[in-house]
Amino acid sequence: MFSRNTIARFQNTETPFYYYDLNLLNETLSSCKKASDQYGFHVHYALKANFNQEVLKAIEKVGFGADCVSGNEVKKAIEIGFDPGKVVFAGVGKSDKEIISALNNDIFCFNVESVQELGIINELAAGLGKSARVAIRINPNVDAHTHKYITTGLEENKFGINQWELNSCVEELKKCQNLELIGIHFHVGSQITNLEVFRSLCLKVNELSAWFEDHGFNLQILNVGGGLGVDYQNPDEHPITDFEAYFSIFDKFLERRPGQEVHFELGRALVAQCGSLISRILYVKNGLKKNFLILDAGMTELMRPALYQAYHKIENISSDSGQTVKYDVVGPICESTDCFGKEIELPDSKRGDLIAIRTAGAYGEVMSSGYNLRERVQSVYSE
Ligand code: LLP
Repeated sequence: MFSRNTIARFQNTETPFYYYDLNLLNETLSSCKKASDQYGFHVHYALKANFNQEVLKAIEKVGFGADCVSGNEVKKAIEIGFDPGKVVFAGVGKSDKEIISALNNDIFCFNVESVQELGIINELAAGLGKSARVAIRINPNVDAHTHKYITTGLEENKFGINQWELNSCVEELKKCQNLELIGIHFHVGSQITNLEVFRSLCLKVNELSAWFEDHGFNLQILNVGGGLGVDYQNPDEHPITDFEAYFSIFDKFLERRPGQEVHFELGRALVAQCGSLISRILYVKNGLKKNFLILDAGMTELMRPALYQAYHKIENISSDSGQTVKYDVVGPICESTDCFGKEIELPDSKRGDLIAIRTAGAYGEVMSSGYNLRERVQSVYSE
């Protein structure tokens, strides 16, 4: 929901742009912080969801750590002020250059995704005369019950080390003098709205952490990843995800030794609702069977609908017409998948009206592209 003043400000701003409501962001962060602190849980923000400068600054201020998936994300997090001692680095394909840079920054932990990667990090750490802290990312084969393109914890996915490889993983670790195994890591998928999935994950983590303890490893941390979903359908009714319900599941079902830490890597749940893509209608095309609204924003600014058939709520925020019409809301890009929504009921719309595409703060701006030589999308912040 946008205030009259905010809409008036949008009228005078060149579109398209991402609008970030920093008040909502801060409220979301406080809510997450409060809920996690009460259980002594550690939260790392997954930069991949949004690395917009102002968004990162707000998150760093709360004291969260950073979850990075590239050398540049590690660099960015540290530049913004995140404590390197709270930076974790994941990814199935870390390059030598990225590993060396992370080692030189003395990051907290590498989440290691294959047996071969253990050997490589060991070798590179030895070359620098350093020891690397690692957590083994285990593929728990837990179904996240989310879109297949954002499911990561099944054996058919490329992520993590499968359970049948754990013995060879332990053998390799014994050979690696420059590695210190500090924990195990999991991430089963994204936009998970059924909390039962997290209960299943806890049971699996309990089983696997016992396995490591039986093999003589003292695990300092259990990292359960991210994945908590948000309400794309009703952003105004549920602007902040129920963090308390989420963390309490882990408190209830995760078995911990005294002193053992639980770490999380949340992305979407922290930033999705504070961002909207604001666009203008360029043309209205009335057809015999269909009406089209052609926007000045497209899949180049927000790729999720084209890539995952993702739903984002679309609103005409400048029309007050009482009459509604069904439109296919599309972008200007020469691709048929450049469509934000089909048969969307909106007030009777005209050229120049402002359209808000909601819940776009996560995996929106960061996934924008320069396809068709489009200009880089701008961002605007609440005052
Ligand atoms: N940790 C790991 C290892 C991950 O792979 C991810 C996300 C996260 C944490 C953060 O997950 P979140 O809390 O945001 O669900 N582009 C897709 C989502 C890809 C998620 C990739 N991994 C989308 O737009 O839906």
